[in-house]
Amino acid sequence: MPIDINPSILSSDFADLRGELDKISTADMAHIDVMDNHFVPNLTFGPPVVERIQAISPIPLDAHLMIADADRNAPVYAEIGCASVTFHAEAAAAPVRLARELRRLGAKASLALKPATPIEPYIDLLGEFDQILIMTVEPGFGGQKFLDVCLPKITRTREAISAAGLEIRLQVDGGVSAATIDRVVDAGADVLVAGSAVYGADDAAAAISELRTLAAAHTH
Ligand code: DX5
Ligand code: ZN
Repeated sequence: MPIDINPSILSSDFADLRGELDKISTADMAHIDVMDNHFVPNLTFGPPVVERIQAISPIPLDAHLMIADADRNAPVYAEIGCASVTFHAEAAAAPVRLARELRRLGAKASLALKPATPIEPYIDLLGEFDQILIMTVEPGFGGQKFLDVCLPKITRTREAISAAGLEIRLQVDGGVSAATIDRVVDAGADVLVAGSAVYGADDAAAAISELRTLAAAHTH
């Protein structure tokens, strides 16, 4: 299966979003971390800024919403035109209803799990989603250390997707780099978010290319 590389602009220079987005034009999607200083202890941007990012981005947007009350606050990101909208299981009262709403609005529906949230309660709901996002750091900040303790959950999620015969992308976010990518791909992820590994490099395009090469070498 092809592996997608979605750089997170969280580690980019917010004073030059147009230039920073252009640096990742060879990536698959731009990962947009929306934080509300409530669900996570950090604040980034909301609908007006994401709407402008959507208007100028050379590649589709992969919105990762780390915001409370996803039921009420997530659909606007689909209306803006984000190709994929990820909301957190911990922030949604009615995940099935919300996933259906996002799909009705034309976005891919994606469910994220924090490190301590198990996949098992959501196994019967997998068919409602286009993607599952497994966090491998506590959400809130870029540049954190990859949590190896999350690897078994990636493996179990891949097994559940295969057992159900579904075509669902499995995204991993947090601490993905040249040093950890082999473990992530071996566990079964096929969409990789990389923030500091891409924007912390001297050449973002070269970093994306290196991650692609490393991922391909570990694909079964
Ligand atoms: C963390 C964000 C991640 C973060 C990844 O809450 O969801 O997308 O930007 O950054 P790195 O790759 O540096 O861990
Ligand atoms: Zn993210």
